[in-house]
Amino acid sequence: MKMKKLISILLLGIFVSGLLVGCSSSSSDKKNGAATSIKESKKDNVNSFNKTNAQNGKKGKTLIVYYSATGNTKKVAKEIAKKTNGVLFELQPAKKYTTEDLDYNNPKSRVCKEHDHVNLQDVKLSETTVKDFKKAKVVILGYPIWWGKAAWPVNNFVKNNDFTGKTVIPFCTSASSEIGDSGKKLSQMAGTGKWQEGKRFSSDASEEEIQDWIKSLNLE
Ligand SMILES: Cc1cc2nc3c(=O)[nH]c(=O)nc-3n(C[C@H](O)[C@H](O)[C@H](O)COP(=O)(O)O)c2cc1C
Repeated sequence: MKMKKLISILLLGIFVSGLLVGCSSSSSDKKNGAATSIKESKKDNVNSFNKTNAQNGKKGKTLIVYYSATGNTKKVAKEIAKKTNGVLFELQPAKKYTTEDLDYNNPKSRVCKEHDHVNLQDVKLSETTVKDFKKAKVVILGYPIWWGKAAWPVNNFVKNNDFTGKTVIPFCTSASSEIGDSGKKLSQMAGTGKWQEGKRFSSDASEEEIQDWIKSLNLE
């Protein structure tokens, strides 16, 4: 157990130092180092869920709201929606992030500037209001990890909705970082709702892992 923890700390250290190098150096090492380490598996593992298991919730009771810049969180969110018979809602920044915008090896990229200036993290969304939000009893909130925290495009959804009476369950995808206190920080931002411990998935999470997590939540 100790060895496992040590390995994950080492991996996280390597990843985060790669990010820091990116945002503070010239872009000569663009697309190398950490960028290679987060190259995502394109394997499509979305389609083979057992249909009977998937129908275990009343449609609309569980809402899966997510932001995904490069598709990993979206894949997990879709799988969760199937498994819970939930309704999916994708958060879309009014100004979409391009590949260049997401280049954390370039200190002049949009994400690097936003990372360095917290006021720029106030990302306007095309829509913060989710249809039938009031009906939902459970909100599962997904995001990628950016520099060890929840990618900030989820912030304006969290700040602009009232989660009173709802259970909120965060999940994230990341290359190596843990979910850390990202869920706790979002719960403080929201100020309402019963927030549960979150779950981190790897960028290419398996169906089984997602399925096991959903089972462990004991959603009705
Ligand atoms: C700007 C940026 C910062 C990132 N920071 C981290 C990080 O601190 N730790 C980590 O493990 N992964 C980090 N990643 C990798 C993403 O969390 C990972 O690839 C995630 O699965 C992407 O999800 P998405 O495809 O839904 O956007 C970062 C990626 C980007 C673009």
